[in-house]
Amino acid sequence: MRRLDQLLSSLGYCSRREAMALVKAGRVRLDGVGVSKADQKVDPHAITVDGEPLEAPDGLLAMLHKPVGYVCTHGDGEGPTIYELLPDQWLRRNPAVTSVGRLDKDTSGLLLVTDIGSLVHRFTSPKAEVEKVYLAEVDRGLDPRLIELFARGDLMLRSEEKPCLPAKLEIVSATTARLTITEGRYHQVRRMFASQGWHVEKLHRERFGAYDLSDLAEGEWRMIDVECPQLR
Ligand code: URA
Repeated sequence: MRRLDQLLSSLGYCSRREAMALVKAGRVRLDGVGVSKADQKVDPHAITVDGEPLEAPDGLLAMLHKPVGYVCTHGDGEGPTIYELLPDQWLRRNPAVTSVGRLDKDTSGLLLVTDIGSLVHRFTSPKAEVEKVYLAEVDRGLDPRLIELFARGDLMLRSEEKPCLPAKLEIVSATTARLTITEGRYHQVRRMFASQGWHVEKLHRERFGAYDLSDLAEGEWRMIDVECPQLR
Protein backbone atom coordinates (compact mmCIF):
# COMPACT_ATOMS: atom_id res chain seq x y z
CA MET A 1 0.00 0.00 0.00
CA ARG A 2 1.31 3.46 -0.89
CA ARG A 3 0.17 6.99 -0.16
CA LEU A 4 -1.70 8.10 -3.28
CA ASP A 5 -0.01 11.51 -3.69
CA GLN A 6 3.44 9.99 -3.21
CA LEU A 7 2.59 7.20 -5.61
CA LEU A 8 1.41 9.53 -8.38
CA SER A 9 4.41 11.80 -8.02
CA SER A 10 6.90 8.90 -7.98
CA LEU A 11 5.36 7.59 -11.21
CA GLY A 12 5.74 11.00 -12.84
CA TYR A 13 2.05 11.91 -13.10
CA CYS A 14 2.25 15.15 -11.13
CA SER A 15 3.75 16.73 -8.03
CA ARG A 16 2.39 15.69 -4.65
CA ARG A 17 0.54 19.00 -4.44
CA GLU A 18 -0.97 18.57 -7.89
CA ALA A 19 -2.20 15.13 -6.83
CA MET A 20 -4.79 16.87 -4.69
CA ALA A 21 -6.13 18.72 -7.73
CA LEU A 22 -6.27 15.48 -9.74
CA VAL A 23 -8.25 13.83 -6.97
CA LYS A 24 -10.60 16.82 -6.59
CA ALA A 25 -11.22 16.81 -10.32
CA GLY A 26 -12.46 13.22 -9.98
CA ARG A 27 -9.82 11.86 -12.31
CA VAL A 28 -8.46 9.27 -9.88
CA ARG A 29 -10.37 6.09 -9.05
CA LEU A 30 -9.75 3.20 -6.69
CA ASP A 31 -11.39 -0.05 -7.80
CA GLY A 32 -13.54 2.09 -10.07
CA VAL A 33 -14.76 4.40 -7.31
CA GLY A 34 -13.76 8.08 -7.18
CA VAL A 35 -11.03 8.77 -4.60
CA SER A 36 -11.64 11.62 -2.17
CA LYS A 37 -8.33 11.98 -0.31
CA ALA A 38 -4.90 12.39 -1.86
CA ASP A 39 -3.12 11.15 1.25
CA GLN A 40 -4.92 7.85 1.59
CA LYS A 41 -3.07 4.55 1.33
CA VAL A 42 -3.89 2.63 -1.82
CA ASP A 43 -2.97 -0.47 -3.76
CA PRO A 44 -1.20 0.91 -6.88
CA HIS A 45 -2.77 -1.83 -9.01
CA ALA A 46 -6.31 -0.76 -8.08
CA ILE A 47 -5.83 2.88 -9.17
CA THR A 48 -6.79 4.46 -12.48
CA VAL A 49 -6.13 8.00 -13.69
CA ASP A 50 -8.48 9.20 -16.40
CA GLY A 51 -9.69 5.61 -16.68
CA GLU A 52 -6.23 4.17 -17.35
CA PRO A 53 -4.32 1.88 -14.97
CA LEU A 54 -1.11 3.39 -13.59
CA GLU A 55 1.89 3.04 -15.86
CA ALA A 56 4.44 0.47 -14.66
CA PRO A 57 3.64 0.79 -10.92
CA ASP A 58 6.22 -1.87 -10.01
CA GLY A 59 9.05 -0.29 -11.99
CA LEU A 60 9.63 0.35 -15.63
CA LEU A 61 11.79 -1.56 -18.10
CA ALA A 62 11.82 -0.76 -21.80
CA MET A 63 14.02 -1.13 -24.83
CA LEU A 64 14.92 1.78 -27.07
CA HIS A 65 16.25 1.64 -30.61
CA LYS A 66 18.90 4.32 -30.26
CA PRO A 67 19.70 6.21 -33.43
CA VAL A 68 23.23 7.40 -34.27
CA GLY A 69 23.86 10.95 -32.98
CA TYR A 70 22.18 10.60 -29.59
CA VAL A 71 24.15 10.53 -26.34
CA CYS A 72 23.30 8.47 -23.27
CA THR A 73 24.35 11.13 -20.79
CA HIS A 74 21.96 13.70 -19.32
CA GLY A 75 22.45 16.88 -21.39
CA ASP A 76 26.17 17.51 -21.37
CA GLY A 77 25.97 19.62 -24.51
CA GLU A 78 27.28 16.79 -26.69
CA GLY A 79 24.10 16.58 -28.76
CA PRO A 80 20.55 15.32 -28.37
CA THR A 81 20.11 12.78 -25.59
CA ILE A 82 18.29 9.46 -25.63
CA TYR A 83 16.01 10.90 -22.96
CA GLU A 84 14.47 13.18 -25.57
CA LEU A 85 13.15 10.01 -27.24
CA LEU A 86 11.33 8.83 -24.12
CA PRO A 87 7.98 10.04 -22.71
CA ASP A 88 8.32 13.08 -20.40
CA GLN A 89 6.43 11.22 -17.71
CA TRP A 90 9.21 8.63 -17.51
CA LEU A 91 11.75 11.36 -16.82
CA ARG A 92 9.65 12.72 -13.98
CA ARG A 93 9.59 9.33 -12.26
CA ASN A 94 11.48 8.96 -9.03
CA PRO A 95 13.75 7.02 -9.12
CA ALA A 96 14.49 8.37 -12.59
CA VAL A 97 14.64 6.27 -15.72
CA THR A 98 18.22 5.65 -16.77
CA SER A 99 19.96 3.59 -19.43
CA VAL A 100 21.42 0.18 -18.63
CA GLY A 101 25.00 0.87 -19.58
CA ARG A 102 25.66 3.13 -22.55
CA LEU A 103 26.14 3.19 -26.28
CA ASP A 104 28.51 5.69 -27.93
CA LYS A 105 27.03 8.66 -29.71
CA ASP A 106 28.02 7.04 -33.02
CA THR A 107 26.55 3.65 -32.18
CA SER A 108 22.95 2.69 -32.90
CA GLY A 109 20.82 -0.13 -31.60
CA LEU A 110 19.33 -1.72 -28.55
CA LEU A 111 19.50 0.12 -25.26
CA LEU A 112 17.55 -0.93 -22.18
CA VAL A 113 16.16 1.81 -19.96
CA THR A 114 14.77 1.31 -16.48
CA ASP A 115 14.05 2.94 -13.14
CA ILE A 116 14.82 -0.28 -11.26
CA GLY A 117 18.29 0.11 -9.77
CA SER A 118 18.67 -3.59 -8.99
CA LEU A 119 18.05 -4.42 -12.65
CA VAL A 120 20.77 -2.02 -13.82
CA HIS A 121 23.10 -3.81 -11.47
CA ARG A 122 22.04 -7.28 -12.58
CA PHE A 123 22.33 -6.44 -16.27
CA THR A 124 25.69 -4.66 -16.02
CA SER A 125 27.45 -6.74 -13.38
CA PRO A 126 30.57 -8.32 -14.92
CA LYS A 127 29.67 -11.55 -13.13
CA ALA A 128 26.40 -11.81 -15.02
CA GLU A 129 28.30 -11.99 -18.35
CA VAL A 130 25.27 -10.81 -20.30
CA GLU A 131 25.80 -11.29 -24.04
CA LYS A 132 25.82 -8.15 -26.16
CA VAL A 133 25.73 -8.66 -29.92
CA TYR A 134 27.06 -5.98 -32.26
CA LEU A 135 27.15 -5.65 -36.01
CA ALA A 136 30.31 -3.80 -37.01
CA GLU A 137 31.23 -2.39 -40.39
CA VAL A 138 34.97 -1.90 -40.78
CA ASP A 139 37.18 0.03 -43.17
CA ARG A 140 38.91 -2.91 -44.93
CA GLY A 141 38.64 -6.62 -45.55
CA LEU A 142 38.37 -8.70 -42.39
CA ASP A 143 40.92 -11.40 -41.63
CA PRO A 144 39.46 -14.75 -40.46
CA ARG A 145 42.35 -14.96 -38.01
CA LEU A 146 40.50 -12.39 -35.90
CA ILE A 147 37.96 -15.09 -35.02
CA GLU A 148 40.51 -17.16 -33.13
CA LEU A 149 42.25 -14.09 -31.75
CA PHE A 150 39.10 -12.63 -30.20
CA ALA A 151 38.00 -16.08 -28.97
CA ARG A 152 41.23 -16.76 -27.07
CA GLY A 153 40.53 -14.42 -24.17
CA ASP A 154 44.03 -12.90 -24.12
CA LEU A 155 43.44 -9.72 -26.12
CA MET A 156 44.89 -6.79 -24.18
CA LEU A 157 43.49 -3.33 -24.83
CA ARG A 158 45.71 -0.32 -24.36
CA SER A 159 45.99 0.97 -20.76
CA GLU A 160 44.03 -1.98 -19.37
CA GLU A 161 45.34 -4.54 -16.96
CA LYS A 162 43.17 -7.53 -17.75
CA PRO A 163 42.66 -9.17 -21.13
CA CYS A 164 39.22 -9.13 -22.72
CA LEU A 165 37.09 -12.17 -22.04
CA PRO A 166 36.64 -14.51 -25.01
CA ALA A 167 34.42 -12.94 -27.66
CA LYS A 168 32.68 -14.60 -30.60
CA LEU A 169 33.33 -13.11 -34.02
CA GLU A 170 31.33 -14.14 -37.06
CA ILE A 171 32.37 -12.72 -40.41
CA VAL A 172 29.23 -11.74 -42.28
CA SER A 173 30.77 -10.14 -45.38
CA ALA A 174 34.19 -8.83 -46.43
CA THR A 175 33.85 -5.76 -44.20
CA THR A 176 31.00 -6.68 -41.83
CA ALA A 177 31.21 -8.80 -38.70
CA ARG A 178 28.97 -9.77 -35.84
CA LEU A 179 30.73 -9.68 -32.48
CA THR A 180 29.34 -11.09 -29.24
CA ILE A 181 30.94 -9.85 -26.03
CA THR A 182 30.00 -10.45 -22.40
CA GLU A 183 31.69 -7.37 -20.93
CA GLY A 184 30.98 -3.68 -21.30
CA ARG A 185 34.31 -1.89 -21.31
CA TYR A 186 34.62 1.65 -22.57
CA HIS A 187 34.34 1.67 -26.41
CA GLN A 188 35.11 -2.02 -26.24
CA VAL A 189 34.11 -3.14 -29.73
CA ARG A 190 35.83 -0.23 -31.47
CA ARG A 191 38.95 -0.75 -29.37
CA MET A 192 39.07 -4.50 -29.99
CA PHE A 193 39.10 -3.93 -33.74
CA ALA A 194 41.45 -0.93 -33.44
CA SER A 195 43.95 -3.07 -31.50
CA GLN A 196 44.33 -5.14 -34.68
CA GLY A 197 44.38 -2.19 -37.09
CA TRP A 198 40.73 -2.08 -38.21
CA HIS A 199 38.62 1.03 -37.91
CA VAL A 200 34.94 0.51 -37.08
CA GLU A 201 32.94 2.80 -39.34
CA LYS A 202 29.46 1.72 -38.28
CA LEU A 203 28.39 -0.02 -35.09
CA HIS A 204 24.96 -1.32 -34.21
CA ARG A 205 23.84 -3.35 -31.20
CA GLU A 206 21.38 -6.05 -32.24
CA ARG A 207 20.91 -7.85 -28.97
CA PHE A 208 21.33 -7.36 -25.23
CA GLY A 209 20.93 -10.57 -23.23
CA ALA A 210 17.59 -12.12 -24.13
CA TYR A 211 16.32 -8.97 -25.84
CA ASP A 212 16.62 -8.16 -29.51
CA LEU A 213 15.34 -5.23 -31.48
CA SER A 214 13.32 -7.30 -33.96
CA ASP A 215 11.08 -4.83 -35.80
CA LEU A 216 11.42 -1.86 -33.44
CA ALA A 217 11.99 1.25 -35.58
CA GLU A 218 14.86 3.64 -34.95
CA GLY A 219 14.02 6.17 -32.24
CA GLU A 220 11.12 4.05 -30.96
CA TRP A 221 10.77 2.29 -27.61
CA ARG A 222 8.84 -0.74 -26.40
CA MET A 223 7.88 -1.74 -22.82
CA ILE A 224 9.24 -5.00 -21.42
CA ASP A 225 7.39 -7.02 -18.78
CA VAL A 226 9.23 -6.46 -15.49
CA GLU A 227 7.70 -9.55 -13.94
CA CYS A 228 10.22 -11.72 -15.69
CA PRO A 229 13.25 -9.75 -16.86
CA GLN A 230 15.64 -12.11 -18.59
CA LEU A 231 19.38 -11.95 -18.47
CA ARG A 232 20.00 -14.38 -21.30
N1 URA B 1 31.52 -0.89 -28.01
C1 URA B 1 31.79 0.30 -28.56
O1 URA B 1 32.87 0.54 -29.06
N2 URA B 1 30.81 1.22 -28.57
C2 URA B 1 29.59 1.03 -28.05
O2 URA B 1 28.74 1.91 -28.07
C3 URA B 1 29.34 -0.22 -27.46
C4 URA B 1 30.32 -1.17 -27.45
